[in-house]
Amino acid sequence: MSIKFNQNTQTFYLEGKNISYVFRINEVGFAEHLYFGKTIGEDEISYLRCFGGRSCVPTVPGKDGFFYSHYAPEISFFGTGDYREPTVCVTNDLGDRLCELLYESYEIVPEKPAIKGMPSLKGGETLVLHLLDKITGFGADLYYTVYDDCPVIARRIVYKNNSKKTIRLDRAYSFALSIPKSDFVCLTLEGAWGCERHIQKAPMHKGVVSIDSKRTSSSAVLNPFMALLSPDATEESGEAIGVNLVYSSSFVLKAEGSPDGKTLLLGGINDFDFSWELGAGEEFATPEAVIAYSDNGIGQMSRAFHDAYRKYLINPNFVNKERPIVINNWEGTYFDFDNDKLKSIAKAVEGTGIDTFVLDDGWFGKRNDDSSGLGDWVVNTRKLEGGLKTIIDYVHSLGMKFGLWFEPEMVNEDSDLFRAHPDYAIGVPNRARCYTRHQYMLDLTRQEVRDYIVEAINKVLKENEIDYVKWDYNRNVTESFSLGLSASSQKEFAHRYVLGVYDICERIVGANPHIFFEGCSSGGARFDPAMLYYFPQIWTSDDSDAEERTKIQYGTSMVYPLSTMSCHVSIVPNHQTHRVTDVKTRADIAHLGATGYELDTSDFGDEQRLETKAQVEEFRAMQNLVLSGDLYRIENPFESNFFGFMVVSKDKTRADLTLYRRLTGANNRIKLVFPKGLDETKKYYIPEMDKTLCGSTIMNAGLVPEFELGDFKTVKYHFIEK
Ligand code: GLA
Repeated sequence: MSIKFNQNTQTFYLEGKNISYVFRINEVGFAEHLYFGKTIGEDEISYLRCFGGRSCVPTVPGKDGFFYSHYAPEISFFGTGDYREPTVCVTNDLGDRLCELLYESYEIVPEKPAIKGMPSLKGGETLVLHLLDKITGFGADLYYTVYDDCPVIARRIVYKNNSKKTIRLDRAYSFALSIPKSDFVCLTLEGAWGCERHIQKAPMHKGVVSIDSKRTSSSAVLNPFMALLSPDATEESGEAIGVNLVYSSSFVLKAEGSPDGKTLLLGGINDFDFSWELGAGEEFATPEAVIAYSDNGIGQMSRAFHDAYRKYLINPNFVNKERPIVINNWEGTYFDFDNDKLKSIAKAVEGTGIDTFVLDDGWFGKRNDDSSGLGDWVVNTRKLEGGLKTIIDYVHSLGMKFGLWFEPEMVNEDSDLFRAHPDYAIGVPNRARCYTRHQYMLDLTRQEVRDYIVEAINKVLKENEIDYVKWDYNRNVTESFSLGLSASSQKEFAHRYVLGVYDICERIVGANPHIFFEGCSSGGARFDPAMLYYFPQIWTSDDSDAEERTKIQYGTSMVYPLSTMSCHVSIVPNHQTHRVTDVKTRADIAHLGATGYELDTSDFGDEQRLETKAQVEEFRAMQNLVLSGDLYRIENPFESNFFGFMVVSKDKTRADLTLYRRLTGANNRIKLVFPKGLDETKKYYIPEMDKTLCGSTIMNAGLVPEFELGDFKTVKYHFIEK
């Protein structure tokens, strides 16, 4: 890892694991991109600067000619002949919307500075490039961080008003990356409730390919991730450039194909319904964008994100530690429970290895269904006699830990909180509010509202012995408006809301370091790196049907490590799809993440108890691979009848392969499967075959899995170095 500046050629060379990033300051002071990709030498490569042809030739005010162009910008801006998407848009007191950001100076800092009020990756040598528009005093600091053990570069921008007057930011993206090609396939993750993060691919074209969220949440609809793939890219070959925003509110990512066959990739906070008044001397920090590069296919891009997040984002106290294996009562009881019911669910799994009982929604306020109680974080003693203590003590007496559900950002109209403070709910005066699931959202842009939430929840966590929290979020903002903001600042709402979320996370998660926090949002509707900073795992989807999960987990793994995906074995017929699959299949698929159980176990007989015990033992045996191994995707359920994930230990001495076949067929024909990621030169014992084979044989000659007849079956292989 190194960041260098060549004074003679005015060129910056950034080197991370297997990647180089090079740009220079040109003759008039524009930061001009030269290269991003596989490691190269520190050569003088200004010959690579591109002029952009006649349709788009940004020049320099007061100068003429191609020579001064800044066609491959590190930051694009409006008004001087660059007609592509600007990275930043401003308006000053005169109504002047130009900003010409030229080089002033740079710093190299050995340790990456944190972003005030927002999560970001830690560590890594960082270059800070100071740019300034001398006419207005508007400035931009561009941050670049590289890592010697991950092929990613983290980027962000801090905008600064060095003038004496207010400047309005109309757009404030986090980065722009100039890429000298455009024949890409654009891969994004789309979805909805119950089918989050499905793979979507479309060819790039001239013009703008864009994904966004306007929900004040990163959302299940489009994840804040985009990858540009070379047209021939597969899991193991071809180029893949992926970008993921460490951000949980409305975002946008764009790839603009320009007339001469190049691409500008950029994005950050969605500028739809956004503006920000930047007073004299003030700064505006944008969220971080993590950009991964792979010249060995999509699989290597995913592993780059996985490594970066496990090393530099997720809480180191939990990331590689044994995860709680929970029994959660939600699908088992929904709102219909009392102490006896909960006790019988917990008692039934005693001795199976399930180590945490999680009490889901319905324990507080007057909550007997989803129409009341949110916001009242006091135990419902009519339902739970003796308060939480009774069930917590019981669970602890079984040697298990105790977890509790909260939905901190919400309020029901039928709640003591709403009756006392109707103004705490987001809404526009004199307009009716939209309900979703009978609930409103609390205005987290306001300090007093955040203080109420923090106090109420920390009180429950302080007064009870709680080991685990599930933090839910079940609707998105409507009527974006805050009574705490002036009329001219209302477009700051979506960003200020999420700063409020991060603030309460700091003050609740941060104040309870002994508690394991799991994220959730109607399943996986807020599954993003910023949430992973607080929650080492997130409930991946409310749909735990094994067949549907193969797609959800496959898509999620594009960016997010297996250790972040919370995956439960639930009852059949499945509550979301009514599909019936074997419990072995359900467990095998749920073991490809942070596994757990979610069903009414109170009627478990000895056979089910033993089966569960065996499943838990199997998971514990593979847990280290799932938490810290390398993932290789073997079969793609979006393109075939099969799904396959292989996890390989970093030292390649162990690996597990899980294969799944959707539908059976008559004449069960042979299917060859090619494992990946092993050491070609090592020999591996495969217990399922009682055979020892060379890594090269296993990966090149393949295996012939024997699926049991019937739909939705799994087969597993273990590889142990001999
Ligand atoms: C959401 C979650 C579920 C459950 C319910 C409770 O839908 O995704 O797992 O916690 O809320 O209301």
